[in-house]
Amino acid sequence: MVRSFLKDTDFSPAEAKEVFDLAARYKATRSAGIIDVLKSESWGVLFFKKSTRTRLSFEAGLYELGAHPMVMSSNDLQISRGETIEDTARIMGRFLHGLVIRTFEQEIVEKFAKYSGLPVINALTDLLHPCQSYTDMFTMTEFFSDGKPTPESIKGKKFVFFGDTACNMAYSLALAGAMFDVEVVLCGPEEFKPEPVLNKLFKEANLTPTWTFTSDPIEASLKADVLYTDVWVSMGKEDEKAERIKTMSPYQVNDSLFKVANKNSLFMHCLPAHAGEEVSQEVLDGKHSVIFDQAENRLHVQKAIVSYLVGKNREMARK
Ligand code: CP
Ligand code: NVA
Repeated sequence: MVRSFLKDTDFSPAEAKEVFDLAARYKATRSAGIIDVLKSESWGVLFFKKSTRTRLSFEAGLYELGAHPMVMSSNDLQISRGETIEDTARIMGRFLHGLVIRTFEQEIVEKFAKYSGLPVINALTDLLHPCQSYTDMFTMTEFFSDGKPTPESIKGKKFVFFGDTACNMAYSLALAGAMFDVEVVLCGPEEFKPEPVLNKLFKEANLTPTWTFTSDPIEASLKADVLYTDVWVSMGKEDEKAERIKTMSPYQVNDSLFKVANKNSLFMHCLPAHAGEEVSQEVLDGKHSVIFDQAENRLHVQKAIVSYLVGKNREMARK
């Protein structure tokens, strides 16, 4: 069975640490040029939803690992005219060496993995965004380490996610945070409580639930090390826009929250941001913000995820 990366917990915590080491090495040596981990391979990068960062970072990253990246929109494939996921996946399995997918239901990436026989990377579903959460934990190690970044440096840090606590980013960050012993607090409206989805994800992964939920943004921000937010209207939720903005408006990340957070706290956002909604312009552009380091790290961390996964699959094939 070929391994894929469909959920944050598809790597063990020990493996995730090795992925971080590799990402740091890739970051430090990028200027040395293309490496040949994926030499002569063709990788598909398939989008059912819009993207800027994921598209750029995977296309550049796969190229830098030696592969030929083939970026596709589902609108341009026969899938948009009714061809099944199963058949599309089987066809891709005959041409490609790996696949990166951004789509709606988690079941779609699972089907692609099952029917293509390829290693599949989840580049965002309605349920999870594990490439982003790994990148965010990695970025924290850079800011909280003295010297060489280490995963130990984020152990016990208080990480607060504000707003839509029932979205892909909230779920992925709660899972990845637990893997790295980060104290994750989810802070949002009662209507967007993360249970029962998060309880199910933790149970399936055999992981002890360590996250907590509160509806009080000031209480959540007290002595926090990271204040994180994401859009209030995720892709596919556009019909609920007006209602979501109204319900989530008490959860905007602004200077009042940083007043009670730790002095050296970070502001993080997966982007794209909507200044004036989930975050104030001052915070977005302010001294706590590390949003562009986060965005850049998508490249290094995803290169590490892909090559680590491919390495594991090659090791299994040799046995
Ligand atoms: N953060 C993120 O995944 O950005 P894109 O939607 O632009 O890919
Ligand atoms: N929750 C957002 C994340 C975007 C990177 C969405 O799904 O649209």
